[in-house]
Amino acid sequence: MRKIINLNTNLKNSIGGNSIRKISDPWASIGTILGQTSIDDYSFHLKKFKAKKGDIVAAEAKQPTGDGRVVEVIVWGRIMEIISSNEFLPNEAAKELTEGNISIQDTILPLTKNDAICTVKNLGYTTNDPGQKLSLMPLNYPVYPGGAVKYPASKDLESLLNTDMKGKNPIFIGNLVARRDVDVQVSADNMVSRHVLVIGMTGSGKSVWVRRAVRELMVKQYPILIIDPHGDNLGIVQKATKLFPNHKIKLFYPKISASENNKEVIYTLIERLGNKLTEPQYDFLNWVLTKTDYEPGTSLIQYISILIQKSNAAAENKRNKSTKSSDGPGNTGASTMGVVSRSLRKVYSKLKEMEQSNISNRNKYPHLKFEELPDPYSQPEKIIQKSQVSILYLKGYESLPSSTIVSILLESLFNHRSAGNRTIPPFFTVLEEAQNFIPSKSEGQDGYPSVSTIKKIATEGRKFGTGLMLVSQRPYRLDETVCAQMNSYIILRLKNERDQRFVKNTMENWDNEEAKQLPNFANGQGIVSGQITNLPLTVQIKFDDDLTNDDIGDENFISDVQNWKESSENKKKRELSKDFDEVFDVDKRKPH
Ligand SMILES: Nc1ncnc2c1ncn2[C@@H]1O[C@H](COP(=O)(O)OP(=O)(O)O)[C@@H](O)[C@H]1O
Ligand SMILES: [Mg+2]
Repeated sequence: MRKIINLNTNLKNSIGGNSIRKISDPWASIGTILGQTSIDDYSFHLKKFKAKKGDIVAAEAKQPTGDGRVVEVIVWGRIMEIISSNEFLPNEAAKELTEGNISIQDTILPLTKNDAICTVKNLGYTTNDPGQKLSLMPLNYPVYPGGAVKYPASKDLESLLNTDMKGKNPIFIGNLVARRDVDVQVSADNMVSRHVLVIGMTGSGKSVWVRRAVRELMVKQYPILIIDPHGDNLGIVQKATKLFPNHKIKLFYPKISASENNKEVIYTLIERLGNKLTEPQYDFLNWVLTKTDYEPGTSLIQYISILIQKSNAAAENKRNKSTKSSDGPGNTGASTMGVVSRSLRKVYSKLKEMEQSNISNRNKYPHLKFEELPDPYSQPEKIIQKSQVSILYLKGYESLPSSTIVSILLESLFNHRSAGNRTIPPFFTVLEEAQNFIPSKSEGQDGYPSVSTIKKIATEGRKFGTGLMLVSQRPYRLDETVCAQMNSYIILRLKNERDQRFVKNTMENWDNEEAKQLPNFANGQGIVSGQITNLPLTVQIKFDDDLTNDDIGDENFISDVQNWKESSENKKKRELSKDFDEVFDVDKRKPH
């Protein structure tokens, strides 16, 4: 067997010119493995400053194979910890330096005797054969003490990280935090067919990541649906129109309406947005609901106004004693009917208010064109289409109506996909503020309609090409069973203890050492793990500044105030009041 990895710098030229050779540059030797090693980890003595925490390093080793042979391999591992010590500097000596105000340079203490000992966690091994791809296999024998530790060339590390990506539509997401010259790719195939959980505190870089992913999927003409409760993604609209001239980028506002097969959801919303009802009142509400056919596709607000009319009419009849047997169940009294009517009016005005709030938020962006969400049941192709990005702008809607809207929308789209009638192509849904749509049971928001819809998509979506990306700043508030269905993770900065605990509990193979990094990540730094990548990696996500919006996003209140010009109306008011003040002053000086 020919050895292709040139672990010896001096052999550089002897292997040059081999075109199938994957591993190109000789790797620098950075240290020596210490006396005791195990399958999981080893320690080594590091040449000063030659590596840092988080680096991926390689050690030479031999592995016994199943057929009795012993093969030469490269063992890849990650530096988890570096401990530096100087045995010539006992604590006592340091204390004396402090107390005597002495610099160590002015003493005979040896400065060069600092030792750095690294602990390495093994990731797996690759064979050392020409032409073999670098796929990691689990170790079955420890590296040998005394062996050399090498610093792999960037190109080689890159090919290890991105092995097998070729057939899986790799997309570039950023660079290793520890080695900025190493590009990291993830598999777009695995991303859109499975589910990705994106978590990180506010400002940690979630939306920047969403833009990165969306942009790459746009290049692949993949249909995308973004559920956007705050308008974080409106930036994509303006800029992407220029970057992707052949794409359709649609901005929708919700219309609450349901189709025949999910009108139950509508009933739930009416019930839960209204006042708490007693048993007889509830019976009457049910009676009005069953007596008033919901015409699939009509607006919920319109439907509720019919319900109000009906219950008012029933109450009126009751008062006029012209009771017909059809006016309410049993002997419902007029006052009961009145209470139900009031509750319905409350639902009506709540929905109107939210609609109005959504309108006034939309009006803040006069240059953006919003359209009413088409009926996902009868016109799904207007929402999901090749080379189309659809953004549903939910600002102004409270979480229960938002959950209802999203449930109706996703349920319909999912049904179109699972029916297999090719009305719409596979698509990818991004759900921002996921805690509002899949609240954990402990949040007391049980029965949100979107929970069961998303649960269904998460469990069955893979078969039908309805991948999800759930984005949240509060992971511990998410429904546990939905999270358990997620198989890829982007974990950005998290400072909250409960959120960190959630990460530890949810993810398999999660290392405490890795969890320690979470609070210290800079913007856009995070751990990428799961099926979209070969190895869990700490990545600096690429920032697509050409997709950010100039007038949406980061608030800049200080310069806003500095550039503040008083409106002419305010000015007039102020001058008017000055005139009045003068009048009063005159009055004070010359009392009548
Ligand atoms: N990958 C990144 N590279 C550089 N800066 C970033 C990155 N991600 C985020 N930022 C910075 O942090 C800000 C907040 O990021 P954003 O994605 O809006 O946070 P979140 O959605 O998590 O609240 C961005 O406007 C940007 O300035
Ligand atoms: Mg955001």
